[in-house]
Amino acid sequence: MPDLHVVIMAAGKGTRMKSAYPKVLHRVGGLPLIEYVLRTAEPLNASSTVLVVGHMADDVSAALVGRTNLQFAPQEPQLGTAHAVLQAEPFLVGKSGLVVLLSGDVPLLSTETLRRMIAVHVETGAAATLLTAVLDDPFGYGRVIRSEGKVERVVEERDATPEEKRIPEINAGIYIFDLEPLFPSLKAIAAANAQGEYYLTDLPQVYRQRGLPVQTLQVENPREILGINSRAQLTEVGAIMRQARNEELMAAGVTMEDPASTYVGPDVTVGPDTILHPNVHLEGRTRVGSGCEIHADVRIVDSTIGDRVTILNFCLIRQSTVAAGAIIGPFAHLRPESDVGEDAHVGNFVELKKTRLGRGSKANHLTYLGDATIGAKVNVGAGTITCNYDGRAKHRTVIEDGAFIGSDTQLIAPVTIGRDAYIGAGSSITEDVPPGALAVARGRQVNKEGWVGKKKKGPGA
Ligand code: UD1
Ligand code: CA
Repeated sequence: MPDLHVVIMAAGKGTRMKSAYPKVLHRVGGLPLIEYVLRTAEPLNASSTVLVVGHMADDVSAALVGRTNLQFAPQEPQLGTAHAVLQAEPFLVGKSGLVVLLSGDVPLLSTETLRRMIAVHVETGAAATLLTAVLDDPFGYGRVIRSEGKVERVVEERDATPEEKRIPEINAGIYIFDLEPLFPSLKAIAAANAQGEYYLTDLPQVYRQRGLPVQTLQVENPREILGINSRAQLTEVGAIMRQARNEELMAAGVTMEDPASTYVGPDVTVGPDTILHPNVHLEGRTRVGSGCEIHADVRIVDSTIGDRVTILNFCLIRQSTVAAGAIIGPFAHLRPESDVGEDAHVGNFVELKKTRLGRGSKANHLTYLGDATIGAKVNVGAGTITCNYDGRAKHRTVIEDGAFIGSDTQLIAPVTIGRDAYIGAGSSITEDVPPGALAVARGRQVNKEGWVGKKKKGPGA
C-alpha cells in the first residue's frame, strides 16, 4: 500500500453563502462542515493531512485547535482550486505515494468511497482518479466530457455550452493523484476561463497531453458527493444527515414522534425505549439513557441524562447531569454544572446553576438555585432564591438532607441550612440554621381590628 497524503481545499470565500464567515465553518447537523471531511479522512491514517486555508484562515485554524497531525497551508489570494492544491506542495516535498484530494464543502462523503477510489487507482495504474456521479440535476457542477469512454476534460457550469450542460455525469471534486506528476502538471494550468481562476479541473486535459492515465469511479450513492455552495444546500444536506441519524436511532430502539423535527447530533447517544417528541434538540456530547421521555421543545447540550428521566416541555439543559428517575420541567433551565440527583424534581420556572440537587429533593416552582449544594429529600418551596452574588463575588449555599425551605425564602450566601431544619415562608436568611431548628426571619404580622371601618369614616370618605 503506497503512502497516503490527504489535502483538503478549504480556502474559498464561499461567495454564494453570502456570509461574513468562512464556508467550511458553517454548521450542519451541529458540526462545522470541515469536521465531517476530517472525520471521513481520519480512518485512512494518512501520513500527512494538509488543509489549504485562505479566507479567514485564523478562524478556521482556531476552530480546529487540538487536532494533531493537521498542517495548514495558507493560500493568499485565492486564485482557484488548482492554485489551492499548489499551496500544499511545500508540505509534501521529498514524499512519495498518493494524494487524496478532498473539498472542504463536501461533508457526506464516506471513507468507504475513498477506499474504493484508492483501490481502483492502484489496480488500474492511473496517475489521477476522479470521483464522478450521475445526477438528475447536474446544475452547478463541472461536467465530465468523455471521448471513447475516456475522460477528455471537465468543463465548469459557467464555461459549458448548452449541449455540455445536458451531460448528467459530474465531477465530484474528490480525487486521488500519484504525488510525483501532480505539482509539475498543476503548474501547466492557465486561468483561461469565465472566472479567471486556475481550475483544478483543467488537470485531466494536461494529463492527457502528457500521456498520464486518468481513471474515474462513479459513486454508488450520489448523495455522498453533494457539495455545499449555498444556504439552501446547507439545509438540504442537514435534512439528509438528520434523516440518516434518526433512522439509525429508531433502528436502535428510540421512538420518534416526528423525525423531521427531531435533531440529534452526530456525537449524541440515546438509549432504547426513550421517546423523543417533536422539536427536541440533542446536541454536542449529550448522552440520554434508556426509557426516558423527552417532551416537545426541549434543547439539551453537552449533558448526561440517566435512565427513566422525564423532561417536560420547553426546557433548556446545558453541561449538566440528571440522574435516573428525575422529572424536569416544564420550563426549567439547567445552566452549566448542575447536577440533579435520582428521582429529584425540578419544576416550572426553576433555574439551576452550578447546583447539586440531591436524591429525591424537590424544587418545583419559580425558584433560582445558584452555587448551591442541596442534600437528599429537601423541599425547596415556591419562589426560593439563593442570593449567591454580593456584587463582587459568588458565594455558596448549603442545604443539608431533609431540610424544608418555606416559600418565598431568600438564602443570602454564604449560608448553611442544617439537616432537617425548617425555614418559615418569606424569610431572608443571613445566618446559618442549626440542624433540626426552625428559622423565621420576616416582619411580624400586625392586625389592626376595625381599621377599615375607621378609614371609611375619615377624611376623603
Ligand atoms: C468544484 C469543481 C467542480 C465540481 C465541484 C464539486 C473546480 C474548478 N470545480 O466546483 O468541477 O463539480 O467542485 O463540488 O475545481 N477553494 C480553495 N481555494 C480557491 C478556490 C476554492 O481552497 O481558490 C476550495 C473551496 O473552499 C472549496 C473547494 O475548493 O472547499 C471547491 O471550491 P468551490 O468554489 O466550491 O468549487 P465549485 O464551484 O463547487
Ligand atoms: Ca463547491
